[in-house]
Amino acid sequence: MDFNFRHLEAISEKMDHPASLEEALRVNFKKSAELEEGIDVRIYNHMLNKSQMAKHFGWSISKFNDQLALFNKLNPQQPVVHYLQGKVKQLFSRFDLDRLKRHFDTDCYSDHHKPTSCLISSHKGGTGKSTSTLTLAVGLALDDKRYPKVCIIDTDPQGTCGAAITHIAEDEQFITIVDLILRNHEDNIVSQLLGRGFSLEQIIESAAFSTHLPNLSTFLSFPTDDRFTDLFWSLKGQERVDLLCDFKLNILPIIKSMYDIILIDSPPQDSPIIWMMYEAVDMVLIPCSPKNYDYISTKNFLKNISNRIDKLPSQGKNIQWSKVAIVNFNSDSKHEVKYSDLIRKACGEHVLNADLAHSQAFLEASETGRSVLDLKKNQLKKTKGTDYDNAIASTTAFMRSFIIELHKVSSK
Ligand SMILES: Nc1ncnc2c1ncn2[C@@H]1O[C@H](COP(=O)(O)OP(=O)(O)OP(=O)(O)O)[C@@H](O)[C@H]1O
Ligand SMILES: [Mg+2]
Repeated sequence: MDFNFRHLEAISEKMDHPASLEEALRVNFKKSAELEEGIDVRIYNHMLNKSQMAKHFGWSISKFNDQLALFNKLNPQQPVVHYLQGKVKQLFSRFDLDRLKRHFDTDCYSDHHKPTSCLISSHKGGTGKSTSTLTLAVGLALDDKRYPKVCIIDTDPQGTCGAAITHIAEDEQFITIVDLILRNHEDNIVSQLLGRGFSLEQIIESAAFSTHLPNLSTFLSFPTDDRFTDLFWSLKGQERVDLLCDFKLNILPIIKSMYDIILIDSPPQDSPIIWMMYEAVDMVLIPCSPKNYDYISTKNFLKNISNRIDKLPSQGKNIQWSKVAIVNFNSDSKHEVKYSDLIRKACGEHVLNADLAHSQAFLEASETGRSVLDLKKNQLKKTKGTDYDNAIASTTAFMRSFIIELHKVSSK
């Protein structure tokens, strides 16, 4: 039989699909932009009423009114105007809160913490990396007291962590992290902008997408970013080392000057883009679902990763913290309880104290382009109230546990 695998390429050309990050995001944005009172539901669900706003600043309502009037007098072009819901409730968006915070709050997160990066990594597919990344990122950004600036970097060309919550503006630049890394190796949007005199700082700033939260941004990936791997293997010796160190030396420091907490989601592979991240990050979180395959896969991953990191230029000296996290844990399942116990026993102190529970709420959140923290109980369509409550309680405990660990590394 005359068989030619080249027909696969021909099929690929016929497949109708968004060809660029821009198209993909526009399709995705339309799909998930559910409205409430004419506002994106993800923004609406985090709006605050006047007494919550006043409480946030530790003021009485009348002091809040006075301060708001003062702020608006100073900003006549762009006053903070509350959103009227019917005739009764007055709601403020978190973007309003952000502007007032920047004006009135003198204490900021970076006064007490160094910028810190954490890679969320495991070679096992579908074990909960992207869910953990998104949940932690939204949870950290919603921490009004500390109010860190958070960003998600998605390094998975096949993944969509962060895309769901990404908002796109008219004048957006559609630049991925791989476009940035390949700026000296190919003629791409980044090399062109550099040629036009823009600085790398300016380009990185424009590569960040805004989200439904003012202090959370995303850097995204796209399937064409797989070309990074081809380039990596085509280079030799010092050129390969330079490429491996580029993110650490030239890109991450700029991102760290813009954000306090950088969470990096990774693909389920042992591949050059992950090595580049291992070479750069301060922390590594390893999610593992307490199931047979995930357990074996994580065992294997932990063995291989130490050897891998040893061979990197910095030999892992940059990594100050690493722990396993038990995620997507159904504590009603005997099988999962057994594997969760095995993980805890093997990891000892190297496992996060709190687990992330299995819940329909995470699935409903991901189907509607949100994290579980962006859902509201009265809007649930597929999740039972008790299941939602469990998911929120588990997320809160998981967050708390992660923040304690994060601060061990980031405190000044
Ligand atoms: N705690 C949870 N409860 C219920 N479902 C969950 C939970 N965590 C993850 N899931 C679901 O499991 C699936 C895989 O999760 P996720 O995408 O986070 O894994 P991943 O490790 O990032 O996968 P990949 O390796 O493909 O990138 C998703 O459908 C997700 O919604
Ligand atoms: Mg993923």
